Amino acid sequence: MIRTLALSALSAVTAVALSFAPAPAHAAGGLGEITDFSFSFEGPFGRYDRAQLQRGLQVYTEVCSACHGLQYVPFRTLTQETGPALSGDQMRAFAAQFEIFDRELDDWRPAGGPDHFPASQMETAPDLSLMAKARIGFEGPYGLGINQFLRGMGGPEYIASFLLGYDGREEMQAGSMFYFNTAYDGWVSMAPVLWEDGVEYFDGTRATVEQQAQDVAAFLMWSAEPHLTERKRAGFVGVVLLALLASLLYLTNKRLWAPIKKQAKEG
Ligand code: HEC
Repeated sequence: MIRTLALSALSAVTAVALSFAPAPAHAAGGLGEITDFSFSFEGPFGRYDRAQLQRGLQVYTEVCSACHGLQYVPFRTLTQETGPALSGDQMRAFAAQFEIFDRELDDWRPAGGPDHFPASQMETAPDLSLMAKARIGFEGPYGLGINQFLRGMGGPEYIASFLLGYDGREEMQAGSMFYFNTAYDGWVSMAPVLWEDGVEYFDGTRATVEQQAQDVAAFLMWSAEPHLTERKRAGFVGVVLLALLASLLYLTNKRLWAPIKKQAKEG
């Protein structure tokens, strides 16, 4: 009786859990078609691919920065070891391309390490610093969470799919041009911006549209969550320590109770 009860309870729990499990590769909240790209930073041991982040930085700088800002990202973080890992000189040379208005000097000057990337140049273009965390490509934190654990929430997948999601439909609405985007599942005012060989990669990687989209999406994931690699590493160490602690507790418990168990048996 108890056994049947336990079994049926178990199958009920499984059924509930399964019914909440997210449908793969389709977006929540009425989003459109999201491609499930596989990024190096997914999974419990994921880490950023330094070369990819550097290429993504190049795409951001040459293409997106014309309109979009990255105002929460200080230039100095580009030297981060688990991030793009530019050298100090590379980073300073990069920052110096941007002009910053210095209130103390009351004048413009080239940016340096402690300064942040500029804000959006175009009023209607949202800042991209946190965009990879502000959008989801897969269903939210429902179900068993295993999917989120293994693949993330799909922010970078959304960005890459968004950049690749133009189906060619254009429409004039109230004096401005709108473009249909299948990832957004609606009309957006941002035109397609990526073209085959639109950038010439510093490392010789072939600049297909898909490559550029994934590289810039990875870079934006880093800008939104620069400590992801460290966090995953710490999580892993935590799990190992907990497992060790659990086995020590088990052995201690056995040892403590051993004489009493023995007594009980003998008595
Ligand atoms: C010519 C200006 C321009 C350029 C260049 C540009 N964007 Fe945009 N972008 C916009 C505007 C304007 C919007 C707002 C669109 C809307 O809400 O209708 C936008 C919106 C977005 C969004 C938000 C979509 C959403 O879900 O709301 C993302 C992500 C994005 N852009 C990424 C990029 C990336 C990455 C690049 C570089 C590869 C880029 N953009 C280049 C103007 C631009």
